[in-house]
Amino acid sequence: AAGPGGHLAGHIRDVVDHPRPGVTFKDITPLLADPGAFADTVDILSAMCTRLGATRIAGLEARGFLLAAPVALRCGAGCVPVRKAGKLPGETFSRAYELEYGTATLEIQRDAFRPEDRVVVVDDVLATGGTAEAAIELVHSTGARVTGVVVLMELTFLPGRERLERLVKSDCVQAAIAV
Ligand code: PRP
Ligand code: MG
Repeated sequence: AAGPGGHLAGHIRDVVDHPRPGVTFKDITPLLADPGAFADTVDILSAMCTRLGATRIAGLEARGFLLAAPVALRCGAGCVPVRKAGKLPGETFSRAYELEYGTATLEIQRDAFRPEDRVVVVDDVLATGGTAEAAIELVHSTGARVTGVVVLMELTFLPGRERLERLVKSDCVQAAIAV
């Protein structure tokens, strides 16, 4: 695997036909369970977020939360949850999107950011880009600016990066591991 975290690829397990036939699930639980690999991951992702000038990290429910919180702490940035529908209290913006398997809705609190924030979206996997696209559009709805997307793993055989090009510069979409 390529990328600055290429040596971590062995900690991600391919689960064939999960959650449905024809989909290979990228299971990050072995990486999370290995303190050294998890620490390396947080180092790499937080360095990317710092270079992108992040003042807020937007973490995507659910697996993105596991990375966004330690990365935000390491960067000295605030951490903001982007959640599945119905979970966040108060006024929210909502956006429906299509996944590799199924559809879903993400939400963000309308007052999550300050106008001057530089927001980096953090998630575990960039596949079709539908999740990251919805998250970027939600951040933009609040009036804040997305300066990058940082993921643990990019599936380069899918056009996720291309899908995000109209929203964020291609060199601001960064992955620790590219497969
Ligand atoms: C998975 C993964 C990414 C997204 C990537 O999340 O964690 O968020 O899919 O796919 P995409 O680029 O094609 O949108 P999922 O919705 O399965 O749920 P979870 O994070 O709550 O487990
Ligand atoms: Mg997810």
